[in-house]
Amino acid sequence: MNENEEGLGQSHSIEMESDAEYQRQLTTFINCSTEKGIELVKIGEVFSELHHRRSFLDIGAGGGDLTIPISQSFEKTTIVEPNEKQVSFFHRRYPNFTVYNNFWEDIDLGPERYDFILCSHILYYIQEGRWASIIDKMYAHLESNGRIAIVLQSPIGEVATFFNQFTSYDVNVLELWRELIRRYGDSEIDVRYFMNEIWTDNLEDMVTIGLFLLIDAHFKKFAKQMSDYFEAHHKTDTGYRLMQDEILLTVKKS
Ligand SMILES: C[S@@+](CC[C@H](N)C(=O)[O-])C[C@H]1O[C@@H](n2cnc3c(N)ncnc32)[C@H](O)[C@@H]1O
Repeated sequence: MNENEEGLGQSHSIEMESDAEYQRQLTTFINCSTEKGIELVKIGEVFSELHHRRSFLDIGAGGGDLTIPISQSFEKTTIVEPNEKQVSFFHRRYPNFTVYNNFWEDIDLGPERYDFILCSHILYYIQEGRWASIIDKMYAHLESNGRIAIVLQSPIGEVATFFNQFTSYDVNVLELWRELIRRYGDSEIDVRYFMNEIWTDNLEDMVTIGLFLLIDAHFKKFAKQMSDYFEAHHKTDTGYRLMQDEILLTVKKS
């Protein structure tokens, strides 16, 4: 179909959903996906290598599905999150967390350093040309022997094929990987691949998840086509299933 000119990762401005609608989509996704459980295991493999587990920084914590369990393994947890609704949730429920209501590009954390920095499904919101400086900023806030974990949607697999029906999925993971090796050295970069299943028992929830994955509220106008696409390609005997392939890139500071 490709009715949109620009795709994820391109330098167009994304129309963000209202906080409430974003929250609804996120909740549907979390309830219907095995992702966070599998992602937590993979991330656990990364931070189990740390010498110290004093400080954890989560960039774009969202609903806290990763932040809250990971925080159990660290003495201090810090969040940088631009969504006010999520921030107010953390203030109420986790007053022991340090929470900044800001974009990563804009926040000034002074001399603070962290043993573990997580950036899970955030880079799509930032223009690709700015990724290197964004990651340099993370590296500057990383303790020696610390780790940065960056999670991104893979450019291959069922979710990428779905994206390519409605936009172009041009999040250049290979180029990012190459650039990280160039900047920090081959021995400091690691990559892991994992898959998870999104399963819904009705089409409406799968469309909600499709919109959540596409990020941009502009895609709402394709809801009917999306519904037809899932019906044609992802219907099973008992519901709807979409496999999601993901990449975890890690940067180490030896
Ligand atoms: C798809 S959610 C990911 C949530 C969580 N990291 C996870 O993987 O479950 C993206 C989150 O990134 C936040 N975000 C968007 N742009 C950001 C930026 N420039 N800096 C920090 N966070 C950002 C959004 O508000 C949202 O909460």
